[in-house]
Amino acid sequence: MGLITSATGSMADVPKDLMDQITRLEELFTVPQDKLKQISDHFVDELTKGLTVEGGSIPMNPTWCMAFPDGYETGTFLALDMGGTNLRVCEITLPEEKGEFDIIQSKYRMPEELKTGTAEELWNYIADCLQQFIEYHHQDEDLDALPLGFTFSYPATQEYIDHGVLQRWTKGFDIEGVEGKDVVPPFEAALAERGVPIKLTALVNDTTGTLIASAYTDTEMRIGCIFGTGCNAAYMENCGSIPKLAHMNLDPSLPMAINCEWGAFDNEHKVLPRTPYDIVIDKESPRPGQQAFEKMIAGLYLGEIFRLVLLDLHQNQDCAIFETQDVSKLTKAYSLDAGFLSFIEEDPFENLSETHDLFQNKLGISCTKPELELIRRLAELVGTRAARLSACGVAAICKKKGWETCHVGADGSVFNKYPHFKVRGAQALKEILDWPADKGKGKDDPIEILPAEDGSGVGAALIAALTLKRVQQGQNAGIRDPEAMLKAAKVEVK
Ligand code: BGC
Repeated sequence: MGLITSATGSMADVPKDLMDQITRLEELFTVPQDKLKQISDHFVDELTKGLTVEGGSIPMNPTWCMAFPDGYETGTFLALDMGGTNLRVCEITLPEEKGEFDIIQSKYRMPEELKTGTAEELWNYIADCLQQFIEYHHQDEDLDALPLGFTFSYPATQEYIDHGVLQRWTKGFDIEGVEGKDVVPPFEAALAERGVPIKLTALVNDTTGTLIASAYTDTEMRIGCIFGTGCNAAYMENCGSIPKLAHMNLDPSLPMAINCEWGAFDNEHKVLPRTPYDIVIDKESPRPGQQAFEKMIAGLYLGEIFRLVLLDLHQNQDCAIFETQDVSKLTKAYSLDAGFLSFIEEDPFENLSETHDLFQNKLGISCTKPELELIRRLAELVGTRAARLSACGVAAICKKKGWETCHVGADGSVFNKYPHFKVRGAQALKEILDWPADKGKGKDDPIEILPAEDGSGVGAALIAALTLKRVQQGQNAGIRDPEAMLKAAKVEVK
């Protein structure tokens, strides 16, 4: 790998003090092949540990989604996605035709204050959006309760598929009185108060939704991943390999989707090459000590890592950066997002003029050419580290399951929009798994990470459909009240 040259321009005219800093940052942020292998080996052990009664840092949550779709699921379902920035409500119809779906949807902005407000405000807001959706799309209809797949993308312990005790908030959410409690009853109460005809059938993680939606049209799909504001994966395990469910005497060959919650990998800081900047991010976050892996790779944190480095170079390090400039805008926490880094990495010009203008317009800082070279290199380092570390998780699941070839469905803003993320991840998979020289390009690789189908829409609907189908067949593992579920969702399922 060319560690010293940037993708554009040359470092020839970069003064020694900045060059020294670039070298220091390269050492801090580069994850070499042997480290990648060490991380993924430890990851395999931790995935296994999470499935045991004693557990570990990675929660490995059984989701009670216990089958892949066969493409012939049918029915009409609602899906609700409580993402970080938007709330999305969809109505999905699964027709007779294999692998097809129709979808109508509305998006509602999630007010920023909601993330740190009260539980009541949260559930009321969500119920209001659902009510609006139903009133708009089903005006004057006498509706039977529609079955709903609720994509709730936070770690939750599920004893049943329509149950979920929030383990902890992630992604900067900090709403009091929700952690440690089942999120379903207050959500249902808010719906009942409004008389909204909806029956929650399945509480779904976005990764499980992604896995199932992608498997609807691709039988090679084995893992669903989100590389977005947060980062996580789900895959299908056999019940027999989940010691923490042994007391339920489930047929060991039955499949069970596991929401890994791998953002919590290495919370005990054994293998991840944390930099001083990662330590600051953790300390200043609403949940210090949690989500160690996620905080190094997810979209929410990439811009912040980058900002902390630049600020440190300006204030503390032995170099001259942004001298005589007003850096007050750069001092504001979380003022730069992953899109800011993407933009820098996408600057096509040799003189980095777009990056120059970005700093000028957004931060009021006028950069010199050597500073721009450092900025570009830093963005590459932060983005590359994220992609390479992410690959360790994918490789670990494949190693654990003995999958040498498979498809991985991925979604999220970082995966879809961050330049080179896919190729950098594929290169890292090649290094970890010792693929031949012509592999690791992100195309025709043994393990291929592909853009996923809509997990929190179609995926959540499919999981609701699969649940009802299973209950109809009398397979009631993880179903709290089978009769009530079928009765409430008067839907014909084949
Ligand atoms: C959450 C996961 C989620 C991931 C991606 C993490 O912060 O804990 O439940 O799957 O973000 O949205």
